[in-house]
Amino acid sequence: MKALILVGGLGTRLRPLTINTPKAMLPVLNRPFMAHVVENLTQHGITEIIFTRGHLAGQMESYFNESYSSGIEFAFVDEAQPLGTAGGIKNCQSYLGNEAFFVLNGDVYANIDLTSMLRFHKEKGALATIALTPVANPSAFGLVETETDGRIRRFVEKPLPEEVTTDMINAGCYILEPEVLEFIKPATNVSIEKETFQLFLKDKQPFFGWSDRTSYWIDIGSCDKYIQLVADMLSGRCTCSTAPPPGVHLGEGTVVEPSARIEGHVVIGRHCRIGAGAEITGPAVIGDNCLTGDGAVISASILWDGCQVAGGSSVLDSVVAEKCCLSPGSRVSGSILADGVYVPSGAFLGNCRIWPGTIITN
Ligand code: GTP
Repeated sequence: MKALILVGGLGTRLRPLTINTPKAMLPVLNRPFMAHVVENLTQHGITEIIFTRGHLAGQMESYFNESYSSGIEFAFVDEAQPLGTAGGIKNCQSYLGNEAFFVLNGDVYANIDLTSMLRFHKEKGALATIALTPVANPSAFGLVETETDGRIRRFVEKPLPEEVTTDMINAGCYILEPEVLEFIKPATNVSIEKETFQLFLKDKQPFFGWSDRTSYWIDIGSCDKYIQLVADMLSGRCTCSTAPPPGVHLGEGTVVEPSARIEGHVVIGRHCRIGAGAEITGPAVIGDNCLTGDGAVISASILWDGCQVAGGSSVLDSVVAEKCCLSPGSRVSGSILADGVYVPSGAFLGNCRIWPGTIITN
């Protein structure tokens, strides 16, 4: 079966991390986010994946073509200009064939049982099925009301508290029959959520919601959610075959000085050095080729590859992207540093977002 993954968005809410790295390639436990998603799909018999190409898509194409040599085929389809979620699907029509296919929003990680969802879709004779997931605060979302047999009754966008009739939202995962493509105008920007799904309701098409109250689900569209996914995979709250069991994991060639302390759920990549007296407290991930100086402190943070955290400096509740350099005695807290940021000795960065290549001065 085929799956189409929508990765044509710009990822503006994740800036500055997404300026040089597409959202789908953000490192999660030192592997691209999308590698975890793809692994999940392969467990449900999906052998062909079509990516709608978007922002910085070349990086994805080289990663997937190099990392998977057999068993799964990838196609990358260009959009000359953003076509929206339905327009992006229509643009892939020549790749989709004449069987039902999955569609996933490229920023969702979910342990949805796609096999059961497909069974439901077939049993109902549905034209389209949306996976539905519960949320704690329904007012902030678009809710999906269903009949007792699962047929979708209506969508309620950002309801007032008294209008909340369900806690189920669109999980960004669909099964569509090929006939759905006839509902979408070609070469036009069309939203599947706002336009195509409304057409199905108007036409009384067999359009169903498959409720899944037990699976882990997250949309990593914002920095907070990205950090949460990493913490959840580390702690085992989000179980997935691509995450190691909770605990401390050191990559090949990594050296930890005996007086360093590593506590909680921590993944450290390959060829790193953790200096004498350094303290690493999970949930934390350190990428490949990172240097942590003597007495440095890293807590509840994600460091990408090639970072240097000099002696006596600290990183707390932060994301530090590739090849950043923190000088001795500097402190970074509650912040997002994009690639190649330089922080001088003794500087303090609190609750800020720093753009790629910025050289901070005292
Ligand atoms: P923000 O700019 O932060 O809102 O991110 P986004 O545009 O990447 O994400 P949004 O939540 O708006 O989109 C949901 C999913 O649809 C994401 O996986 C996007 O990559 C994808 N998407 C959004 N717009 C397009 C588009 O024009 N074409 C395609 N192919 N995919 C899109």
